[in-house]
Amino acid sequence: MNRIAVALSSALAVATAGCSTPNQPSSTPDRSGSVTGELPKGPALGGVSDAEPGTTEYDMQVWKALLRDHTRIRRTVRHIDRGLEAETESDDPRIAALIKDHVLAMKDRIRGGYPVRGWDPVFRELFKRHHLIRLDVVLTEKGVKIVETSDDPETVRLMRSHAAGVSDFVKEGFAIMDRETPYIDER
Ligand code: HEM
Repeated sequence: MNRIAVALSSALAVATAGCSTPNQPSSTPDRSGSVTGELPKGPALGGVSDAEPGTTEYDMQVWKALLRDHTRIRRTVRHIDRGLEAETESDDPRIAALIKDHVLAMKDRIRGGYPVRGWDPVFRELFKRHHLIRLDVVLTEKGVKIVETSDDPETVRLMRSHAAGVSDFVKEGFAIMDRETPYIDER
């Protein structure tokens, strides 16, 4: 299911509490985590890519757009027991919509185990452990709040390393696109 369908199914699940759908609101999450809120429809995402949503080509166009506009994104990360929470937002509605779109796409990839950046050890190892990751996403007005946890200490280390890498993308943009993501040693 692509992310637009996921967001729609979440909204449907709210409207029809008790029905079972693959990605439900936080009150009845599946093991891989929940999605709460809706992806903006219409022109917000228009023009970012001609490719079909759900394809690698489309995902690539979205993250390139985020890297291009990195100075207009703000992000905070906090470590919690067995994981992290992070808030990533933009005052620009178009960029906010892209952040939401990206996170739902990457959540689908984590849930299904469909890797990106296979040459980058943190990403590669993270995807190998995708079944140990729980990613809860709340779509906010200006972006996303996520809580990401795992019972496996090495997976927690990889998730925190990845999150620090995303913060570096937000700070540096394209300049660090080809750099291997550093490992965070603290577990
Ligand atoms: C400025 C650029 C970017 C922003 C703002 C961004 C934002 C985010 C956010 C908010 C998450 C949810 C997890 C978290 O908050 O830590 C996430 C997850 C993810 N992003 Fe990005 N991202 C960016 C660039 C990239 C790039 C360039 C790639 C890959 C080439 C990528 C791949 C992923 C993957 C695989 C996940 C899921 C991994 C996980 O959360 O366990 N992101 N991104």
